[in-house]
Amino acid sequence: MKQYRTNVVGAVAVTNAFLPLVEKGAQKKVINISSAAGDSESVKGNVPDELLPVRASEVVRDFARHSGMANHGSDVVCSRLRPTLKFSEHNFPVRHVFDDARRALTWHYQWLIVNEFLPVLVGTSLVEELAERGPAHYRPVDEPFIPVEFADAAYRYGHSQIRQLYRLQPDGPARPVFPDLMGFGPVGDRRVDWSLLFDVPGHPAAQRAKPIDGTLPRSLIELPAAITGAVDESAYRSLAGRDLERGLGTGLPSGESVAQLLGADALSDDELGLREHGWRAETPLWLYVLREAWVRQQGDRLGEVGGRIVAEVLYGVIGLDPESYLAVEPDWTPTLPARDSLFGLSDLLVPAEAA
Ligand code: HEM
Repeated sequence: MKQYRTNVVGAVAVTNAFLPLVEKGAQKKVINISSAAGDSESVKGNVPDELLPVRASEVVRDFARHSGMANHGSDVVCSRLRPTLKFSEHNFPVRHVFDDARRALTWHYQWLIVNEFLPVLVGTSLVEELAERGPAHYRPVDEPFIPVEFADAAYRYGHSQIRQLYRLQPDGPARPVFPDLMGFGPVGDRRVDWSLLFDVPGHPAAQRAKPIDGTLPRSLIELPAAITGAVDESAYRSLAGRDLERGLGTGLPSGESVAQLLGADALSDDELGLREHGWRAETPLWLYVLREAWVRQQGDRLGEVGGRIVAEVLYGVIGLDPESYLAVEPDWTPTLPARDSLFGLSDLLVPAEAA
């Protein structure tokens, strides 16, 4: 007997799909099973769990046995209708299946931020400190929030990591971000092979991000009008200009003053390298974070100031989410399959069977 795991297209569609085979005699019967367990009320969760009958597979088996069809084996296509929607493999009512899937994905993603992304971006010792003692500075009194130091400076470090060109397919061309990778529309030949952007065991090394060095690729210095809208000044076409302007507009503290507040080892004038360009004032926080990453961490990761802002906010926001794995089960570890001993982002992006 052939069974559909889940029939979401309905009995008529399934029957029609098999009609040619039935007509040819290759398929003798198509049965569509429904039951009280699968009526729309129970799918919506309006029937108490104890009134729900056995698992869908048992419904199917019983039906086949009572109707004598089990003996006909391969002659029968059995399409399980709503009972299958009602249960997951773990026999959870369907509303739990969705909650469960959502929570599993969220927890895996949160776990990757804490255990893969942050250690690479800010260093393991800071992440260990956060796990032991929690954030020292990011301590919202009421609701969690995103501080302007994060949104308008530190987390914009990513603008310095963008490459001028990206290869999306192993044999495809290296494409500029603009205009090739911009906007919404048919994907066409721009389908992304994620193993070219994230290291996947068994695949060649992915394209590296640009070092965090305080420079931006040309495509971000000359943003297209589709991104910026009409601008009076050409400086507004530069993402660097916009990042600096935004920091000024929100009245961000300078990099030096944040370093002092955090007790960090502040960058020297030589390390900042701005005096030779005639800049005498303190350093805009965004630029400070980029210079710090470059001169203190060779552009591979954030330094003391940038790392602390980013890590405290991301770790803090996850910890303050009452549904997060950090809040509910801090020792939880990923349950989805991993290629290596440690689960990684590539396991989420490039499922093993597609690798
Ligand atoms: C091709 C890649 C990217 C482009 C074209 C881009 C472009 C932009 C633009 C135009 C803005 C608004 C700027 C303004 O007027 O204030 C912005 C904001 C921002 N970007 Fe990017 N960005 C890119 C990648 C990234 C990456 C990789 C990160 C972080 C890792 C990042 C973090 C941010 C943040 C935190 C903001 C501020 C968001 C907010 O306050 O709501 N961006 N980006």
